[in-house]
Amino acid sequence: MSGIGTTELSGYAEKLIRGRHATRAFRPHAVPEETMRAIFSLASAAPSNSNAQPWQIEVVSGEPRERLADALQAAHAEKRVSVDFPYSDDMYSPTQQARRAAFGAGLYGALGIGPDDHTARAAYDAESLRFYGAPHVAFLFVSGDADARLAADVGAYMQTLLLAMSAYGVDSCPQGLLSFYADTVRGELGITGGKLLVGISFGYADAAAAVNQITAERATLETTTAFHR
Ligand SMILES: Cc1cc2nc3c(=O)[nH]c(=O)nc-3n(C[C@H](O)[C@H](O)[C@H](O)COP(=O)(O)O)c2cc1C
Repeated sequence: MSGIGTTELSGYAEKLIRGRHATRAFRPHAVPEETMRAIFSLASAAPSNSNAQPWQIEVVSGEPRERLADALQAAHAEKRVSVDFPYSDDMYSPTQQARRAAFGAGLYGALGIGPDDHTARAAYDAESLRFYGAPHVAFLFVSGDADARLAADVGAYMQTLLLAMSAYGVDSCPQGLLSFYADTVRGELGITGGKLLVGISFGYADAAAAVNQITAERATLETTTAFHR
């Protein structure tokens, strides 16, 4: 890194940002309350347009987590889908579709699920509604009118939260799938307002699980970033 304008934090940032990975198998051990408070307090330092902080976070553990997992699996089985932010596979370009396919091959390959085994893939997705065994899940709601700009602010909150978790030794998986059952989540938690962007399962990784060994490659810098001089 010599020659680059590093600061005392750059080495930590490299480790923190590149060291975070989605975890899909957790141990059951709970994150201590004090650690959770430190993490969510740190995440609230995330930037937002005009400092509006248009997020509402619902952290679920223990018995409510168990009930919610049951309710999500029931909603999934009965196809009671309710999305606050519309989703379509068509929103991805061919390049992005290729990246998704490569990622999917790595993920399901690590699980021993073949590319054409749609039944096994579907079963794995259904099981993921139990938060991959994580003892906690945080739901990120966009408050107010929840337009795209407000959702972007909550996206910034999400990444700040994921990094705060990593810094405190807590592993995580953002799960867009959880947002497909927004009414179920709201009903179980007794919430009326806000739109559900994503759920984040968190706890401590099962380091031995093969699914936690996969790495998702990134596009090269030149592919995504132009420097205009
Ligand atoms: C908004 C969002 C939604 C995601 N949804 C899911 C999901 O439903 N299930 C899952 O297993 N991983 C999900 N992920 C994790 C991504 O697959 C993962 O971040 C990506 O493949 C890059 O891998 P990495 O996080 O390990 O670097 C999601 C990530 C983000 C940011």
